[in-house]
Amino acid sequence: AGAAGVAGLGAVGVALRSDGDAGTVSAYPEPEYGDPDRTYRLTASEHEIDIAGGDSYDGWTYNGAYPGPEIRAVEGERVRVVVENDLPEETTVHWHGMTVRGDNAMDGVPGVTQEAIAPGDEFVYEFDAEPAGTHWYHSHVGLQLDRELLGPLVVEERNPHVEYDAEHTLILDEYLPEEPRVETADGMDGMGGMGGMEGSFPGAPPASGTLVNGALPSDPAEFEITEGERVRLRLINAAAATMYAVGIDDHRLTVTHADGPAVDPVTVDTLEIGMGERYDIVVEGDSPGRWPIRIAPVDSVAPAGRAVLAYEDATDGIDEGAIGGHRLQYADLRSLAPAPGVGGSPDRTIDLELSAGGAMGMMGGSGDDGEWTINGQAFPDADPIRIQEGEHVRVRVRNRSPMRHPMHLHGHHFQAGDVVKDTITVPGHMGQVEFDFVADNSGKWLFHCHHLYHMETGMVRIVEYV
Ligand code: C2O
Ligand code: CU
Repeated sequence: AGAAGVAGLGAVGVALRSDGDAGTVSAYPEPEYGDPDRTYRLTASEHEIDIAGGDSYDGWTYNGAYPGPEIRAVEGERVRVVVENDLPEETTVHWHGMTVRGDNAMDGVPGVTQEAIAPGDEFVYEFDAEPAGTHWYHSHVGLQLDRELLGPLVVEERNPHVEYDAEHTLILDEYLPEEPRVETADGMDGMGGMGGMEGSFPGAPPASGTLVNGALPSDPAEFEITEGERVRLRLINAAAATMYAVGIDDHRLTVTHADGPAVDPVTVDTLEIGMGERYDIVVEGDSPGRWPIRIAPVDSVAPAGRAVLAYEDATDGIDEGAIGGHRLQYADLRSLAPAPGVGGSPDRTIDLELSAGGAMGMMGGSGDDGEWTINGQAFPDADPIRIQEGEHVRVRVRNRSPMRHPMHLHGHHFQAGDVVKDTITVPGHMGQVEFDFVADNSGKWLFHCHHLYHMETGMVRIVEYV
């Protein structure tokens, strides 16, 4: 739907805001609607969130629930989601993992693909459910994701390559009892912090626990498995600022899907999941009973390849030994269907450097204090990355900061080594990743760090088809 229209509009360089008057030129692509197979309705509103254990706080939710209701479809179906905004601020919804091919207008990026939905208004999103797999949806405005405007989006495969008897979706998130706000060095410690660094270094306010499906993990993070049973777990890291290590006592994890698409199953003891990433795992019941799923925040300043498990008050009893062993690496993953057209040498190579502004100058930073930058520019004062329809594009990302950055590309899955993903964590301390994709989805698409506070302070670019 709408590919031609979107391509035409791609030539407009600036995002002009339509004021709604007849005759006003809008730079936004035109939404096009079809005949949906499934229709959902999400109402974003302020709602009290109860945390198991008696705590509650004022969150923002979809349909009064955190996580929001599951959106589920079968591969290839057309999905319509009517989003109503009952919040005191404008909002949008992004379908993280959906290619929204030909539907740039449905990508949910305010000021880029649409005008944000004003309080009291609604917007009708529609997209094809592809690729199959475990995805999610969330607000793409400011820090709203950290007010809990998020939920699961599952696309069932028509021909699954794994068999399982039961499935559960586990949404990992940090418990942030305070108002979300960008913190700088003075007020920081813990996982978002850079203890001892001079100057301001923007991050997230300290979290005080890990939530699984909206509850502290004592209850839901245990699961029961019977002899011979195969349980599929769909893991989604919806946290704003925390990577997690995941393991299950006495069981190994067979990873079957990464960011949606199927991989050649690989069995590991633990895995790390960055913000925005998804892994599906199958656990086999060779040791029946009730088993705790160990979920530990990973120290975000640990050197690449040497993950350090941090402990949090809410997840007492995490035993580093219990979740040691072989930890999943990207190099272990091989997608069953490689991204088409990315063999051979690229038509265009784009080099990007991630760094913090100002105070981090000694590590190659440029830009101002309190910013996270890509090639020294902090969004929105940043040049678009221009590509052309049909090109084989290679992106090389170097990290000049000590922190890891889970980088997410909208509108495309890309191939990194042998795995096809949409979000990839660049290791800290001069870490580097490289990925390839074919430019086959015209429009303007974001490429950004999924650390919400890095994104909010500039680590974003628009990838624009010209
Ligand atoms: Cu899940 Cu642009 O984000
Ligand atoms: Cu980041």
